[in-house]
Amino acid sequence: MTATRIDGKAFAEELRKKIAAQVAQLKADRGIVPGLAVVLVGEDPASSVYVRNKAKQTAEVGMHSYEHKLPASTSQEELLTLIARLNADKAVNGILVQLPLPKHLDEEAVINAISVEKDVDGFSIQNVGRLSTGQKAMVPCTPLGCLMLLRDQLGDLSGMSAVVIGRSNIVGKPMAQLLLGDSATVTIAHSRTKDLPSVCQKADIVVAAVGRPMMVKANWIKPGATVIDVGINRTDDGLVGDVDPAVADVAGAMTPVPGGVGPMTIACLLANTLTATARVN
Ligand code: GUN
Repeated sequence: MTATRIDGKAFAEELRKKIAAQVAQLKADRGIVPGLAVVLVGEDPASSVYVRNKAKQTAEVGMHSYEHKLPASTSQEELLTLIARLNADKAVNGILVQLPLPKHLDEEAVINAISVEKDVDGFSIQNVGRLSTGQKAMVPCTPLGCLMLLRDQLGDLSGMSAVVIGRSNIVGKPMAQLLLGDSATVTIAHSRTKDLPSVCQKADIVVAAVGRPMMVKANWIKPGATVIDVGINRTDDGLVGDVDPAVADVAGAMTPVPGGVGPMTIACLLANTLTATARVN
């Protein structure tokens, strides 16, 4: 079998077009332009690239992009003051603080200072709680993008067996909550899981979010299963995912790296910003 290639890049492009159309409508009908503030502390090269891409794509869908680049020496108090100002600013509908923050800053306190309605990353305790109790929540962008691709590929996920490899707060845990919300039977696997290959072999859906190059092997996969690769690992051989490309010989459908989950993240960030705007206006 050669797996169907799940084209996240094309899906994200379509999603951005739909968002751009809704942004234009909002402006024409009510004079409202959604605004996304992105805060970057320090000069981590990977973070700087992400932030630049976010700003570019935000402007491309017709939203206002507000970039706040602060020096690595920024104090907790200075950062919290900026967040308070953005919380109060009516032109700002979404706030994203790029992670990781420099070590001297308290990431948890910073995230939880963002007002729940503007927390477009969905990382605050309140949004995490809302998601896990099935209430209306801002959903973290990467798992939201994975869910969209899975629904598009498989339709109803109800009753399917899903394994999420990785238990991070940014991807693994919210991914599991989303799959549970769609009535899948969910297993969260991680570095201490015993006999991971046999756990995966039972799954209709495997989502790999561990950050280990090509860890998931073809003989771990049930023939015909759908495999979502969240990994973006820089190696000497270039960019590779958490899933061995040979998995494509066994899986029914699979996301490539690059061009799979990656492009969905920013598209979902824009979707969340639009949602945040619609909820307050
Ligand atoms: N750093 C890596 N991924 C993310 C993300 O999705 N949001 C934020 N804020 N920081 C990140």
